[in-house]
Amino acid sequence: MALSAQEKKLRAAEAALRFIESGSVLGVGTGSTVNALIDILGPWKNSVRGAVSSSEASSTRLRTLGIPVLDLNEVDDLDVYIDGADEANPSRELIKGGGAALTREKILAAAARRFICIVDDSKLVNVLGRFPLPVEVIPMARAYVSRELARLGGRAAWRHGTVTDNGNHILDVHDLAITEPRVLENAINQLAGVVTVGLFAARPADVLIVGTDEGVRTV
Ligand code: 5RP
Repeated sequence: MALSAQEKKLRAAEAALRFIESGSVLGVGTGSTVNALIDILGPWKNSVRGAVSSSEASSTRLRTLGIPVLDLNEVDDLDVYIDGADEANPSRELIKGGGAALTREKILAAAARRFICIVDDSKLVNVLGRFPLPVEVIPMARAYVSRELARLGGRAAWRHGTVTDNGNHILDVHDLAITEPRVLENAINQLAGVVTVGLFAARPADVLIVGTDEGVRTV
C-alpha cells in the first residue's frame, strides 16, 4: 500500500516512542515529523519530567499538550533526543536545518545520550548534498561566508526573510556532493561568522527510524 509522506513520518514517530523512558527529560526537535511525534505524546505527559525543545514552534506545541518545556541550562544531559532530518545517509549522518533550527538542534544532539532520528524514506540518500546544506551565519558575515563557501565548491543562496530563533540568517548551499561529511563539517565550522552548519556527522544519529510503505526500518 502506498502511503503519503506524512503517514510515513507518523509511522517513524510512533516507532520512536519506545525510546522514551519514564522520568526522563526528552529532547524534541522541529519540523513536520516532530510535530507528528508531539501530537502522539499525550500518554507520556505525566511520566516524562519534561522536554527541551529546539524551537519556539515546538515549545508552543508541547505546552499546548501540557508537557513542561524546560531550559537546557537547568537539566543534566538529555536522556533521549528525537528529531527529523532533511537527508540521511547509511552511516546515519544527516543534513538538518530545513526548518532553520539547526543550531539548537546541534546543541540538543550534543547534550543527548541517545539521538533518535525519524524520517520518511524520501530522505534517504547514499551521498549527502542533494538537499541544499543550511548554514546559520551572523548577519554581517553573510556575503563573506558565501564567498568562502564558493571556495569549498558550494553555491550559497541567502534564505531571504528567514531569521532564526537566535536572530541570525541562513545560507542554503547548493551543488555539494558531500563525500566526506566530517571533513566538510569541520571546514565550514571554522569559517568566521558561521554559527552552525547543518551537517550532523561528528555527532550522527544513534538510531535512524525510516517510515516506508512496508512499515518502519531501523538503521
Ligand atoms: C529543522 C530540521 C528538520 O528536522 C528537518 O527540516 C526535517 O523537517 P520535516 O520533518 O518537516 O521533513 O532540521 O531545522
